[in-house]
Amino acid sequence: MTPFSLPPGNSQIKCVHSFDELVSTRFADGVNALCWQRTLPGDFGEIVQLLGSSGDSSEAITTLDEARLRRLPVSAEGRRAIDQLLADLELLRNHDLDPALNFISGYPRDDEPGPIPTDVFSFHADSAPVEADTFLCTYHGPTSEGVRNDEAQRRVDIPETRSELLKIFGGADNDDFREYLKENCYDLHYAAVSQARPFSFGLGNLWRIAIDYPGSPVPPCIHRAPATLPGQARLLLIS
Ligand SMILES: [Fe+2]
Repeated sequence: MTPFSLPPGNSQIKCVHSFDELVSTRFADGVNALCWQRTLPGDFGEIVQLLGSSGDSSEAITTLDEARLRRLPVSAEGRRAIDQLLADLELLRNHDLDPALNFISGYPRDDEPGPIPTDVFSFHADSAPVEADTFLCTYHGPTSEGVRNDEAQRRVDIPETRSELLKIFGGADNDDFREYLKENCYDLHYAAVSQARPFSFGLGNLWRIAIDYPGSPVPPCIHRAPATLPGQARLLLIS
């Protein structure tokens, strides 16, 4: 496996060296993603394999509880991976967060995407009505991806898409229309420009990314879930 490296020349990403630094660094001056780069011990693939073959994970996304993790019949390397997962959950919980560990064997796609796809495969910003941010770590499988803000455009700002949305809305480009865009999350989805170079979040790294909320000092970090083929399950921590 090639070692992970941060995309060169990307001033939106700041590398940090500890969990304390990850949670205490303020988003400012255009920095909207913090990466605590880690090479984790343990065999996460073994856990994914066990979960995939256990037969009770028919759901596309299963949230794993600690009891289930502890019960898995694993090797010493698998045990190290489980210890790491439990340690990360505890770190985030001790910081008053509510992390979830997800085993993902597929994602729901938009059945009828309409003018703007709004599933997690589409570049998007997370949002909240109050100050918040998103923590992400992929332990196994295809990794989350990001794109620089100057290499993406809000889909609702693309003239053809906007007029198509206006047609569907059946009204004028006014506050009601903007409310309609918000309600449908259309305003949170982005198209990468043709020259864009999306970057990988890598495996094992714990990221804290800025989201869209009123008064945020920086633009939100634009990201997406990777395309996952059958048999390419992911193990992801999200908070
Ligand atoms: Fe997201």
